[in-house]
Amino acid sequence: MKYLPIIICALALCLGEAYAAEQTDADKKVPAVWAKNCAPCHGGNGKGTTTIGRKMKAADLTSEKIQKKYKDKQEEVIKLISEGLIKDKKIIMKPLKDKLEEEDMKELAKYLEELGKKKDEK
Ligand code: HEC
Repeated sequence: MKYLPIIICALALCLGEAYAAEQTDADKKVPAVWAKNCAPCHGGNGKGTTTIGRKMKAADLTSEKIQKKYKDKQEEVIKLISEGLIKDKKIIMKPLKDKLEEEDMKELAKYLEELGKKKDEK
C-alpha cells in the first residue's frame, strides 16, 4: 500500500501538533482563545470597534467603567463568559461553558485586565 508512509507522516504531524498545543503556555494560548471567542465583537484590543462590535454596541472592555467593575473579580468574568450575557431575552453573548475550559476562562479574565493596562501605557 503506497499511501501508508504518507498516512503515517500525517498522523505523526497530527500527534506532534496536539503535543505542541499542550506544551504551549497559557500566554500564547489566550490571545488565540480571545481571537476566536471574543474578538469578533470586542476586537483584538477589547475596544469593540469591529463591524459586529459597533453594530451590537459591544462595550469597550478597556474603559475605566468595565475595568473597575471587573477589577479583582475574576470569578465574575468567568461567570459572565460561562453563562453568557442575556438581555431582554436576547442572547448577546453566547454561554461558553460547554466550549471553554475553566482554565481558559480564568486566563481570559486575566487577559481582560491586561487589555485595560495596555491602554494605560499608551
Ligand atoms: C456576539 C458578540 C460578542 C462576543 C462574541 C463577545 N461579546 Fe462580550 N459583549 C458583547 C456586547 C454587545 C456587550 C455589551 C452588552 C451590553 O452592555 O448591553 C458585551 C459586554 C461584555 C462585557 C461587559 C459586561 C458588563 O458588565 O457590562 C464583558 C466583560 C465582555 N463582554 C467580555 C467578553 C468576553 C471575555 C468574550 C469572549 C469569551 C466576549 N465578551 C464575547 C458582545 C460580545
